[in-house]
Amino acid sequence: MFSALPEPKADAIIALIQAFAEDPRDSKVDLGVGVYKDDAGKTPVMRAVKEAERRLLAAQDSKSYTKLTGNPDFVAGMQRLALGKVSDRLTGAQAPGGTGALRVLFELTMRANPDARFWYSAPSWPNHQAMLANMKVPHQSYPYFDAETLGVDFDAMIATLDGLDANDVVILHGCCHNPTGANLTQAQWERVTQSALDNGWMPLVDFAYQGLGDGLEEDAQGVRYMASKMPRMMVATSCSKNFGLYRDRAGCAIVQCESAAEVPLVTATLSSVNRLLYSFAPDHPAAVVAEILTDPELRADWEAELAEMRDRINGLRTGLAEALRQETNSNRFDFIAEHRGMFSRLGATPEQVAAMREGGIYMVGDSRMNIAGLTTDKLRDFARAAAAAGV
Ligand code: LMR
Repeated sequence: MFSALPEPKADAIIALIQAFAEDPRDSKVDLGVGVYKDDAGKTPVMRAVKEAERRLLAAQDSKSYTKLTGNPDFVAGMQRLALGKVSDRLTGAQAPGGTGALRVLFELTMRANPDARFWYSAPSWPNHQAMLANMKVPHQSYPYFDAETLGVDFDAMIATLDGLDANDVVILHGCCHNPTGANLTQAQWERVTQSALDNGWMPLVDFAYQGLGDGLEEDAQGVRYMASKMPRMMVATSCSKNFGLYRDRAGCAIVQCESAAEVPLVTATLSSVNRLLYSFAPDHPAAVVAEILTDPELRADWEAELAEMRDRINGLRTGLAEALRQETNSNRFDFIAEHRGMFSRLGATPEQVAAMREGGIYMVGDSRMNIAGLTTDKLRDFARAAAAAGV
């Protein structure tokens, strides 16, 4: 029967990991998957993670099951990190990474409203669309990125959102938009919140890059404003990037309910969804994060290292914009210095992306670059290759 299997659609980002691994050239540059690298091209285990793991190894005396919603200290810690508070209107469940958190929230939504329709930005992280298509739930995109200005096409975005209703769930990127790096201003977050309040649609914030834009607090301003106004909303957080826990899989599905009375049913539903999808989310990475978030010393060290990572990315942004200015004699790449997060789109055509890949530079086909994959000594080479490809 397996011979009847349809060929699965390849994920462009995951396919790129494979293609890069198979390239034998030492000079190759990986700007594909969203993984932080230091200036030596390494993805380190963060210092606080190492220390928390050491403590955990020494103190843990059982591997018995936990709760279906996961480690309560982790869930509360993630709520505080994302929304700046815990409250009797908030609930949540640990999940395997940001992808797991999104899937749990998609399932919760469909149980609450079988007529729900999801909206994601054009463009968005490709797995938003792919996961929704896989679940066979209605979904479509709303306008977001203006390829001319390389910023947010806010007029078009808000015109679409203002036409939605109570059956609609809108996936917003909390910060560090993936794949464009173009983010909403605070005033735009306020206008989007007003649209949700006026039209009754539900926000689902994908908050996978907190701390990698302008700071942990700064990156959360829009989401927190929205949460302060909305009766109900959902947030999917991830510890893959800001704790560097990629393969360990820690994420949190956070739900803000209209009242405390709504919380027990939502929590029971999250437990049930988790049970049906994978029973228990992986304990180890969540326990590590809980240890870091509750220990002042570890937390301070984690924040300091995260700030180093963020500063490196933002320094590379400035350096890359400058190198491109010099190599192309134009300031049309200055947007790279203004964008925030791991990604920006270079604005290259698929043919130019292919030409740069021939030269050993790996970007996603839409010319999304993981800025953190660059190193300072490669900025000039990258700019030359882009200019040579005619970008
Ligand atoms: C990315 O966008 O590169 C990351 O979120 C990794 C992934 O799972 O796609």
